[in-house]
Amino acid sequence: MLGKNFYYQGGDLLCDGIKIENIVQKYSTPVFIYSEPHIKENLNRINKAINGKQITVCYAVKANPALSILKLAGTKNLGFDVVSEGEMRRVLKSSPEPKIVFSGVGKTDEEIRFALQNEIFSLNVESLPELNRVNMVANGLNIRAPVSIRINPDVNPDTHPYIATGLRENKFGLSMEDGMNAYKTAQSLPFIDIKGIDCHIGSQILSLEPFEQATEKVLSFIDQLMKETGIVLSHINLGGGLGIPYSDNENPPSLEHFLNVTSDVVINWYRKRGLNPPHLVYELGRSVVGNSGILVAKVLYLKNTMESNGKNFAVIDAAMNDLIRPTLYNAHHEVVPVTMKKKTCSNKWEIVGPICESGDWLAKNRELSLSEGDLICFFSAGAYCSSMASNYNSRRKPAEVIVSCDNTVREIVRRESYDEILNREIT
Ligand SMILES: Cc1ncc(COP(=O)(O)O)c(C=O)c1O
Repeated sequence: MLGKNFYYQGGDLLCDGIKIENIVQKYSTPVFIYSEPHIKENLNRINKAINGKQITVCYAVKANPALSILKLAGTKNLGFDVVSEGEMRRVLKSSPEPKIVFSGVGKTDEEIRFALQNEIFSLNVESLPELNRVNMVANGLNIRAPVSIRINPDVNPDTHPYIATGLRENKFGLSMEDGMNAYKTAQSLPFIDIKGIDCHIGSQILSLEPFEQATEKVLSFIDQLMKETGIVLSHINLGGGLGIPYSDNENPPSLEHFLNVTSDVVINWYRKRGLNPPHLVYELGRSVVGNSGILVAKVLYLKNTMESNGKNFAVIDAAMNDLIRPTLYNAHHEVVPVTMKKKTCSNKWEIVGPICESGDWLAKNRELSLSEGDLICFFSAGAYCSSMASNYNSRRKPAEVIVSCDNTVREIVRRESYDEILNREIT
């Protein structure tokens, strides 16, 4: 987990040359800290991998929707994948003329209208009723809606069931049979402009095989689609889902390898048939920002209760409302001290938060040398952490700061105030 951007120097944990302890002195805890050089390096790697190919990589906003991060993605020419009007508003606020794809099974009429009024690149349609609804809303605006149909390739991505999205039983997309009918219906709808096809099989996928299988299935669907309907698609959206290492024994394919292998499958398939390959789209989130951030928290109390109940608890000031992945997906985040101790006498700890639920744990059975007041850091907290934070137990959402390429520290999301939580209420 340690590397070029997060590392120890003289016993202190640093992010790009800045001591984490110094950041905490200014911004307190819990705090998310992101490495701008790490994010930029990933964006540069993406651009290098797709150079010369007709590919748009969209950043999946749900991974981390901070405006400053969206701005970084936009300046590096990424498009955006959104799943709500709120996310789309964020993108429009952060990037001029962004290329946006809109996914999700439950788009409202208002969201469809908003997307169409703001020149969406593609609405990724996930059901027949949604297709008809898009046609109706587009009719009201007297424009043709650019649409992709999301196909469910029924591929097992070998990930946590909550983030597997491409199996037959999942709520997402349409089966091959229903998808074919949806395209035929789309041909007959006057306000639908059929642009592409779309699939997304899940997240935190650690091998290329499921992606290759899904791509092959999408291509054989396209083959049948051309034969049965004559439809020629201008883009293929292969979704996202590339995993990241949450621990040193996880070895996902690199961004470059993922993009090269999957795009070559498509390009070669078209060339073999003497056809021009369409534009390729990806929707990557976790692999862009996941390893670029950490969450830092303070140890409030140590409950050495091993003898009485078989466990020691380290109660920290971050909780499941700040980092829900462990309790939601049984996810693992590496935990390290912000300052290494000279004389270490370690113990095994259940690291828990102050929330009134036994499910409020952030790490289990971790060997650490801890004292009250110590700072600890959770790695790989750049994606699906701050974006999933909530106000449960009326807790404020944490501050988010970024260490910039010029080694300055900038707050990008202020810690929420109690007034902000209470202000929405009408008494
Ligand atoms: C439709 C869609 N596209 C893209 C993504 C991004 O996935 P990842 O962050 O794993 O790349 C998701 C994540 O859930 C998604 O649902």
